[in-house]
Amino acid sequence: MPYDAQLNFVFWCPTKIVFGENTALDIGIEVEGLKCKKALIVTDKDLIKNTDIPEKIRKALGSLCVGIFSDVEPDSGIHIVNQGGKLGKELGADCLVSVGGGSAIDTAKGIAIVLKEGGELQDYAGFQVLTRPQTPHLVIPTTAGTGSEVTYVAVIKDHLEGRKLIFGDYNILPNVAILDPKMTEGLPPRLTGATGMDAICHAIEALHSSQKEPIADGMALHAIRLIREYLPRAVENGKDMTARGQMLIAANMAGAAFSNAQLGMVHALAHSVGAKFKVHHGLANSILLPPCLKYNADACGDVYLKVLAIFGVNIERIRPEEAGSAVAEKIIEFTKKLGLPQRLRDVGVPEEGLKECSELALSDGAIVYNPKFISDSAEVLKVYQQAW
Ligand SMILES: [Fe+2]
Repeated sequence: MPYDAQLNFVFWCPTKIVFGENTALDIGIEVEGLKCKKALIVTDKDLIKNTDIPEKIRKALGSLCVGIFSDVEPDSGIHIVNQGGKLGKELGADCLVSVGGGSAIDTAKGIAIVLKEGGELQDYAGFQVLTRPQTPHLVIPTTAGTGSEVTYVAVIKDHLEGRKLIFGDYNILPNVAILDPKMTEGLPPRLTGATGMDAICHAIEALHSSQKEPIADGMALHAIRLIREYLPRAVENGKDMTARGQMLIAANMAGAAFSNAQLGMVHALAHSVGAKFKVHHGLANSILLPPCLKYNADACGDVYLKVLAIFGVNIERIRPEEAGSAVAEKIIEFTKKLGLPQRLRDVGVPEEGLKECSELALSDGAIVYNPKFISDSAEVLKVYQQAW
């Protein structure tokens, strides 16, 4: 369906994308291209322990590297970001090179703020609070899912309050993203599947968002095509460089799509079970996607028909109002083939915790853009119960 000629929208993606096998080793050229001389690597201890990736990047940077901050944790907290900012200041860092998944990238976005603005990260929570470009930030993703290398948002946990804080600002969009399939080669099958499902949720939520727009739509639809074809291959054989590369591209396109078109209830509900019960973000999205598609079905039939077609379904005889349930079934089939858990009870969420999560989800920023307006936590609870 064509868009209304009166539609106003902004598409914003200034991040330079570099793609190709072993391109991460050219990180020094990219750092110098930003006129920087003192890079702080931001990564996590597991990546250092289990892979040689951070060390390879350190070597590739040579004298341009002033240190490694490796305290990133899953769902990085405000205190971690503030520690990273302190180290960056001590070392005189003038840019950040994040190496890792969403947590490393988001942590570096937070450190970029603290390094530039001073104070503590929590002083800058919210949307469009910053007034100038932040510390230059180059990203080397080691997962293909978050798309955080091209989004203007960082999600950082407030451990004291037990919730996730959102930092949304065009000034924290990374300057450079290097998509090197070699960097995701060692990701285990379950994490490959879970992070890939995060990417497909970004694409589907960008498509059904109340802020949907045509450029993001094009990117989201192509991301779904790539994920449908290459995620099973990447899970099956992690050394399949074609599949790894196409998944990095898919996650990147889905990231750019949702950074502009926003998300919806799948992410609102996933953020809440993540904050309360430490459910992996990709797994939470994967489990919650089917019941959310059913919930939104009567508002998004045309959109879901397009997704169904990508999954190889002949849509001629499917009515738009049936498309949500049909896509949900396809997603369930897809995630079963990937070997991913199907229910919230399988990933450590107790049934009695759902009510609290449903109240928390209502205050999540992503729910604002859901295609159907939701203001009643009882409705959210019903969706959680279907996923439980
Ligand atoms: Fe996500």
